[in-house]
Amino acid sequence: MAGNIFIGEILRNEEIKEDCFLMKVKVASSFENPLPGQFVMIRIAGLNEPFLSRPISIYSFSRGKNYCSLELLYNVVGKGTQIMAGLIEGSHVEINGPLGNGFDTRALKKNIVFISGGIGIAPLSLLMEHLRRRIDYSSVAIIMYPGFQSVSAVIGLDKVQKICRDINVCTDDGTLGEKGFVTQIFQKDMKKYTPENTSIFACGPKAMLKALAKLLNQSKFDCQVSLEERMACGTGACMGCAVAVKDKKGTLAYKRVCADGPVFHLKDIIWD
Ligand SMILES: Cc1cc2nc3c(=O)[nH]c(=O)nc-3n(C[C@H](O)[C@H](O)[C@H](O)COP(=O)(O)OP(=O)(O)OC[C@H]3O[C@@H](n4cnc5c(N)ncnc54)[C@H](O)[C@@H]3O)c2cc1C
Ligand code: FES
Repeated sequence: MAGNIFIGEILRNEEIKEDCFLMKVKVASSFENPLPGQFVMIRIAGLNEPFLSRPISIYSFSRGKNYCSLELLYNVVGKGTQIMAGLIEGSHVEINGPLGNGFDTRALKKNIVFISGGIGIAPLSLLMEHLRRRIDYSSVAIIMYPGFQSVSAVIGLDKVQKICRDINVCTDDGTLGEKGFVTQIFQKDMKKYTPENTSIFACGPKAMLKALAKLLNQSKFDCQVSLEERMACGTGACMGCAVAVKDKKGTLAYKRVCADGPVFHLKDIIWD
């Protein structure tokens, strides 16, 4: 799945929290409407460094008359994201996308629960934006559990506040909301939900998803998670992002996060 490559013009690239940036990129109107959970591979246009292409989730998307705009919310963690952070308005980036499978929203239940850790809020925000246009709020409740390390790392709540019925913020150090890991806060609330009336969507660091798997894998809850594995090509060609999963027969198989994911059913993932 090679995706389509676009030259994007940066309309905005602002540090909204320490080491966390919001980038708005203008691309041609031929950019396909992304499914929530899809991502782009982004690199500096014209840079002769093949390994400096980085996967970033589509945080928000809009279609204007003659062009589309994408918003990317990203943390600066290393070389690639540092280069991105230095880009000014008017500079150009190469955008390959939209890539990946995205979340499956065909069979939503009465309670839609979102669980995010840190920057994992980004793909879930696009999913909420997508649901806002199609769900009937009188029969469906959207409940969010966003976790952050500390109040200084809180991002993206302004956007989800408009969509969720309840937001149960928590921080590892207790500086905002309840103190504790997001999986512990969700666990306390679990009795409010049943597998029959609840769809769960999650994205966050591996440790958080592993803890969620421990919590949910013996139950019948359906939980889709977006994985943020390291990637090389981003288009399914190198197996650099392979994860171990159980296939339909329950036997071990390897799937590429970039091409077969990034969204998987939590129960299918085999954690090491
Ligand atoms: C499908 C997908 C969607 C993503 N969406 C977002 C997003 O919306 N916003 C965002 O900020 N990030 C997102 N990421 C993660 C992002 O791609 C990495 O943070 C980025 O590639 C790091 O590049 P770098 O060159 O700055 O860091 P590097 O120099 O490559 O690495 C710096 C440090 O970060 C660690 N690291 C690098 N990549 C990852 C990773 N994927 N997971 C855990 N640790 C990593 C390295 O081990 C190293 O310690 C996403 C990843 C995937 C696969
Ligand atoms: S990064 Fe190359 S196959 Fe996924």
